[in-house]
Amino acid sequence: MNKPKYRIITIANQKGGVGKTTTAINLATALAAIGERVLIIDLDPQGNASTGLGIDRKDRKLSTYDLLVGNNTVAEVAMPTVVPNLSIAASTMDLLGVEMEIGHENDRVFKMKKALQHSDANVYDYILIDCPPSFNLLTMNALAAAQSVLVPLQCEFFALEGLSQLLETVDQVRRTVNPALDIQGIVLTMFDSRNNLAQQVVSDVRQHLGSKVYQTLIPRNVRVSEAPSYGKPAILYDLKCAGSQAYLQLASEVIQRERQSRAA
Ligand SMILES: Nc1ncnc2c1ncn2[C@@H]1O[C@H](COP(=O)(O)OP(=O)(O)OP(=O)(O)O)[C@@H](O)[C@H]1O
Ligand SMILES: [Mg+2]
Repeated sequence: MNKPKYRIITIANQKGGVGKTTTAINLATALAAIGERVLIIDLDPQGNASTGLGIDRKDRKLSTYDLLVGNNTVAEVAMPTVVPNLSIAASTMDLLGVEMEIGHENDRVFKMKKALQHSDANVYDYILIDCPPSFNLLTMNALAAAQSVLVPLQCEFFALEGLSQLLETVDQVRRTVNPALDIQGIVLTMFDSRNNLAQQVVSDVRQHLGSKVYQTLIPRNVRVSEAPSYGKPAILYDLKCAGSQAYLQLASEVIQRERQSRAA
């Protein structure tokens, strides 16, 4: 098997609605816009990344499910999106049955890793995996396959509580299935500068996690939430809005960290 040249970043948080999918779509778009070849793997049966990138359900002939169960390769499953340089392995409801289907197999946690070790994944520079809001077998497959994990954290009161559980899971993954798993970074999402509590959350998270937290704050921005209903990333829907600009800034931080980790 070829050693992957590309970076696999899993976007995970077991808490729902914190901005995982929005981050996956817009970070992927920003990376693609500067010429990186990017694949999003939609690993959530909800399929929000696929829908948000304009992939109609009836067009999802092959999906992440086929990749996981070993029916098809990355090249066969990947579909182009409205964004040049950005492809997606779309999600279908079949993913709901994966746990039943492969749950008894010894290598059940390594299915995604194996699929991504296939030489046809080498055409990508970045592979971003969008996870469901739970630590189930799907998310564990993503964490076992990735070089790093990127954690979106919503600026709200319970943010830190959920984060400690997530960091504990990352430690557990390191001890068991993926010793090399790194934390790419923690991105604070849906920040509202008029809200004192949000300001407090930002300073608490920075105090606890220091440089692991990206400088970029993603603001709460209505254009960002409208974009998926047009089947477009916010960056295509309204490049100038504050949310799109923040995601471009986040992409440059992610790239900088990747360069540093490659040089190390
Ligand atoms: N910066 C933002 N400004 C305004 N709305 C946002 C922003 N980021 C995300 N949203 C909205 O918040 C909701 C949750 O975001 P998103 O789907 O990205 O979260 P998620 O973590 O992927 O959710 P799930 O856990 O259900 O997969 C969506 O309706 C999305 O449009
Ligand atoms: Mg999601």
